[in-house]
Amino acid sequence: MNSLKSFILTMGACVGVPTIVMTLVPYGTERGRIAVAYQSVPDPANPAAPPKDPEEMKGLYYPVNYSGDRKRGELVYIQEGCAQCHTQVVRPDYAGIDQFKKGSGREQEYAKDQPVAVRQTHPWDYMHEDFAMFGIRRIGPDLANAGYRYLDKDGRPDAAKVNALYQHFYAPRSLRGWSTSPSFKHLFKVVKKEKPEGSADALVIPANLPLEAGMEIVPTDEAKALVEYLLGLKRDAPLPTAIAGTPPQVPAAK
Ligand code: HEC
Repeated sequence: MNSLKSFILTMGACVGVPTIVMTLVPYGTERGRIAVAYQSVPDPANPAAPPKDPEEMKGLYYPVNYSGDRKRGELVYIQEGCAQCHTQVVRPDYAGIDQFKKGSGREQEYAKDQPVAVRQTHPWDYMHEDFAMFGIRRIGPDLANAGYRYLDKDGRPDAAKVNALYQHFYAPRSLRGWSTSPSFKHLFKVVKKEKPEGSADALVIPANLPLEAGMEIVPTDEAKALVEYLLGLKRDAPLPTAIAGTPPQVPAAK
């Protein structure tokens, strides 16, 4: 009898604990979210017109689609197997400490005095992507919000940080001495300098990176598209849905 009781209790725990952790806790976290209503840009011809009724606009909010170089960069990301070592998912806080970790959630590199705290990713974030690049394992840092790491304090891409990113792809060990990241040299061309000052998009390289005199390292179109894709990775768009059915709210004017 006793063993039947413990059998039932154990079976109950096997079903109950995962239900609490995987269903009830996430539901509890998500239901508090309030959807942000889509707000149209004021009509230039009639700027005084009243804003559209948020109820009427419900469901019209979409994350921005990738285009041009960003879309091509996504393809390079897939072809080069980046997802073998990098994830693009900030896990929910019950499943990890991503939000507080440098390189996984909290983007300290940008605006050091006010680190950006990014939210956990949401299925909506991957809309418009042909394949969601969740990644397979985290050998390198998470890239869900990589775009924040290469900005200056005014929020614009920082030339020195972007150059270091190119250098990382060309020769990862030239930056850190030791790195498990592969080199993506095939995305660059080593060419003869045409002008004494070199071409505008050539890499600025440190003295420890050997290069013959009169030569320069130029990123190919693939490398440029890949960097454009990475600079655009910011999964923090306002969410359009609230599972608790709370009506969408128009964000306060900035
Ligand atoms: C074999 C695993 C592996 C693969 C494949 C890989 N990376 Fe990484 N990556 C790493 C590691 C490890 C780091 C951490 C920094 C280091 O060790 O150099 C890193 C760092 C980075 C960084 C941060 C660099 C910085 O200096 O800010 C970016 C961005 C990045 N990788 C993007 C990519 C992209 C894009 C690809 C595909 C073209 C890729 N990685 C492929 C392992 C990998």
